Amino acid sequence: MRDSRETFVNHAFVTGYPVKHSRSPLIHGYWLKQFGIEGSYRALEITPEAFPDFMRQLEDETAGFCGGNVTIPHKEAAFRLADRPDDLSAELGAANTLWLEDGEVCATNTDGRGFVANLDERAKGWDRISTAVVLGAGGASRAVIQAIRDRGVKAIHVVNRTPERARELADRFGGAVHAHPMAALAETMSGAGLFVNTTSLGMDGEQAPAIDFSPMAGDAVVTDIVYVPLKTPLLRQAEEQGFRIVDGLGMLLHQAVPGFEKWFGRRPVVDETLRQIIISDMDKHA
Ligand code: ATR
Repeated sequence: MRDSRETFVNHAFVTGYPVKHSRSPLIHGYWLKQFGIEGSYRALEITPEAFPDFMRQLEDETAGFCGGNVTIPHKEAAFRLADRPDDLSAELGAANTLWLEDGEVCATNTDGRGFVANLDERAKGWDRISTAVVLGAGGASRAVIQAIRDRGVKAIHVVNRTPERARELADRFGGAVHAHPMAALAETMSGAGLFVNTTSLGMDGEQAPAIDFSPMAGDAVVTDIVYVPLKTPLLRQAEEQGFRIVDGLGMLLHQAVPGFEKWFGRRPVVDETLRQIIISDMDKHA
């Protein structure tokens, strides 16, 4: 017989608006089954107006949640409304993972950890670089910049269509981060060991601009946080030009690991079966 506490604390969620396209239930459902854990992970669509009430209600043990993920457009509000946001989420001003401790809502952001874990898995040694180029200056860009700075990359060139947004990130993330307009892209790529696309360019098969990756170091890695399609136009170009490429799906899979461990007490592994489950789902909705 299970005690009542157990039945209360084994439910996790992903909330967004909209949220029906989220693949997180597939990821956590796979791990729950793999470990044989009696828990659940559900998508909850919550409007921005209702989100503050949802955050308050999390603290009520009878609601039955152990924590969950937060996605667009709630990441900033989740950070602001959490009782105990950690340093990573505080620097980003956004949280994607919540859990309960002593009746208080704790928050972190695992996007950056997912990003570097994906590179660690698929491009071993990627961090022996001194210079990286990050294209884009939105929310996703922040997590990437923070994570590669924290791994010790000495110079991070943020290139953005709207240069002020890149400058804001350079101010926020300190001396290693430099802001540039689009026109400076080729120059910033000179000798760089990592190129990260964080913009929506080329998403869902849209046209992407032609990029000449040849100024980069010969063993440079090119990666994209967009994973639909898996091989984005930018990745295709980089591959054709002879560069190592890493697709963005692994970031999604790896960012889920710390949350699962917090809620369910077991550290899951990103394996090929899980990757294929998500790829099949992408094919189904293509
Ligand atoms: P996210 O939070 O997912 O990163 P975002 O905050 O909307 O999304 O940021 C999108 C990024 O893609 C921005 O860097 C944006 O450039 P601007 O800051 O100039 O808007 C970039 N982006 C989107 N469409 C683009 C395009 N057609 N050309 C160049 N950059 C583009």
